[in-house]
Amino acid sequence: MNRYKVLIVGMGKRGMHHAAAFHANARFQVAGICDIDNARLQAAAPKLGNPQTCADARALARAIHPDVFCFCTLPNSRSALIQAGIESGAKLIAFEKPVALTSTEGMNIKNMLDTAGVKAVVSHQHRYGEHYRKVHDLIASGALGRLNTVYATATGWMMHMLSHLVDYTLWFNNGAPAQWVIAQAAGRGKLSDSHPSPDYIAGFIHFSNGVHGVLECGAGAPDVPEVPYWWRKCRIGAQGTDGFAEVMTGGGWRAVTKNGSFSGQGSMNYDLDMPPYIQDMADWLDDDKKVHPCNFATAYEGFEIMMALCRSAILGGQIALPLASGTDEIAALKVELPLQKVLFSMPENAKEYPG
Ligand SMILES: NC(=O)c1ccc[n+]([C@@H]2O[C@H](COP(=O)([O-])OP(=O)(O)OC[C@H]3O[C@@H](n4cnc5c(N)ncnc54)[C@H](O)[C@@H]3O)[C@@H](O)[C@H]2O)c1
Repeated sequence: MNRYKVLIVGMGKRGMHHAAAFHANARFQVAGICDIDNARLQAAAPKLGNPQTCADARALARAIHPDVFCFCTLPNSRSALIQAGIESGAKLIAFEKPVALTSTEGMNIKNMLDTAGVKAVVSHQHRYGEHYRKVHDLIASGALGRLNTVYATATGWMMHMLSHLVDYTLWFNNGAPAQWVIAQAAGRGKLSDSHPSPDYIAGFIHFSNGVHGVLECGAGAPDVPEVPYWWRKCRIGAQGTDGFAEVMTGGGWRAVTKNGSFSGQGSMNYDLDMPPYIQDMADWLDDDKKVHPCNFATAYEGFEIMMALCRSAILGGQIALPLASGTDEIAALKVELPLQKVLFSMPENAKEYPG
């Protein structure tokens, strides 16, 4: 059985998660690792079978000719690394959410990937959690009757969390395309963060199948008191004519249907979610028909929705999808967002939103 050669760029938290999962999978060989921080690179190498190391992703790619070009850097360097991945001749590029920081960059990335014809995967790996899959499978079984609403909330900010929330609401709604959104936003504190975002954004999505999506992300989103860990205070679910089902990222799942009420365990766990996420890359590389659940095309739909929500907050009114042209939504939010400080849904948020 052939092993796919992998190059991983970025040896931080997520890079190490990816590298460890590739290293543990017999279908992959970690052939090279890259980081501009040499101490991180040297600390990582012995844990990964001592692959080639280099601070320059392009030079390393030229030396290795990887099958998979994976990068897990902060969101400010997406286009250059997509370009490096394409130039490397890799068959698959795997990268971290968010897809990009502006719709202009997202569209550019989409054009580059489409033109190159390379497979791409974006890390919305929470969906591998048993509690996420349980809720998805219940919805897909028809147990909720005719779906009318999908919803999601998170107390973490947009560029960290909304990418995940939208991706899973699209999944729960069986991939129906979004036709328009409307939204509001508040709070400037996180606009200069490494994950630049309004402190709070809330909005609605209208999908082609008539279902509406209701989203809240950031300082004003409701508490999920069942979940103690702040970053995992997320609730994602669906309502239909015959009931509802929802997952809490750090607190299991629950549902009420015509057959009664149900609940179960599950908490987002990198050690459990990464191995199947990585295995699905091998399956897609082996067989074009086994498209990865976290494929770029799906992630891009979610990204467009996120940027359309920002545009609605900037311009007012409804924003039609798909977006016709690109812009820099974060720059526009810096101009248009009201000056007043964001209002919290719970005192605990003051620690994460001091600005
Ligand atoms: N999917 C998830 O569940 C999840 C969870 C946390 C973070 N993330 C995402 O993962 C990404 C990375 O986050 P992180 O927490 O691992 O960041 P991090 O800061 O821990 O790691 C980033 C690493 O990339 C390196 N780097 C930056 N630019 C580089 C370049 N040009 N070449 C080589 N190395 C470079 C840095 O030196 C650093 O070691 C972010 O986009 C974040 O949103 C996803």
